[in-house]
Amino acid sequence: MRWPPGIVPEGDRECHAIPVPTGAHARYHVLVTEPLLCVRDLHTHFPVRAGVLQRVVDQVRAVDGVSFDIGPGETLGLVGESGCGKTTVGRSILKLIPPTSGSVRFEGQDVLAATGPRLRALRRKMQIIFQDPASSLNPRLRVLNIIGEPLVVHGLVASRDELRARVESLLERAGMPRAAADRYPHEFSGGQRQRIGIARALALEPRFIVCDEPTSALDVSIQAQIINLLTDLQRDLGLSYLFISHDMAVIQHVCKRIAVMLKGKIVEHGDRDDILRNPQHPYTKTLLAAVPEPDPRRTRLGAA
Ligand SMILES: Nc1ncnc2c1ncn2[C@@H]1O[C@H](COP(=O)(O)OP(=O)(O)OP(=O)(O)O)[C@@H](O)[C@H]1O
Ligand SMILES: [Mg+2]
Repeated sequence: MRWPPGIVPEGDRECHAIPVPTGAHARYHVLVTEPLLCVRDLHTHFPVRAGVLQRVVDQVRAVDGVSFDIGPGETLGLVGESGCGKTTVGRSILKLIPPTSGSVRFEGQDVLAATGPRLRALRRKMQIIFQDPASSLNPRLRVLNIIGEPLVVHGLVASRDELRARVESLLERAGMPRAAADRYPHEFSGGQRQRIGIARALALEPRFIVCDEPTSALDVSIQAQIINLLTDLQRDLGLSYLFISHDMAVIQHVCKRIAVMLKGKIVEHGDRDDILRNPQHPYTKTLLAAVPEPDPRRTRLGAA
């Protein structure tokens, strides 16, 4: 049967369906496609303490009323200067930092209210890749155990052999040799370490990954390789990304939708091409002006 546009039968997993009270389609449900991730009015404040008694004297409003959606298979680029709150947004969404207020819904579930097994189940689907692969990988563990740890914690492997097979296949997926499993993080270059971080993030087969400046600690020549790997993985696995960067050149290459952040707030948010063509906020214009033009005779702002 063909369903009228915007209408689906009850029970479609991807849809947030509401009943239509009257009219010709009363027995169907309206298709209100709820985004994969829905963030509303998120605030994360940190206390500032002072004095011998370490009393709270002020609050840092690191995230100050942030809202956005990310759909299945989509990348939202979050760009802004150092200290504007990008990492705090990423970690708050995953509940790695407890937000002060607001709501985060993932696949229609309330992430901030989730605890215990429900939070663990959500965490399997929501992962993070860190900026600095050197400090995010435990130097005392072999790569086998670094990538395998989430599989063991979530009880997803029955034997040592299965663990090794899964880890080796994840390493291959991230463009690393299988033999890397038996080595330690310090034996690899920065780009290779980031590939190991990516393999670990993929271990639990997530749907959504916060990529927190995944290339900014890397050499320029390696940055493109890691971005290409993330793009390939997105295409093959249908992943959604929140891609965080302070570099507009990277963001505009990776994302079709961009949110510009300044002092804890999103000051501009929209389609990449619209923002590049016609930035509204003065801060976005400054970020764009800092992007080097391939042709030095042209400047991005005011270019013919
Ligand atoms: N745990 C914390 N306790 C207190 N203040 C914090 C904490 N984490 C972050 N902050 C403050 O919150 C603000 C935002 O920090 P955040 O790390 O989110 O910025 P960012 O945009 O990711 O910066 P960068 O580009 O340098 O990574 C900063 O002023 C920072 O000092
Ligand atoms: Mg950061």
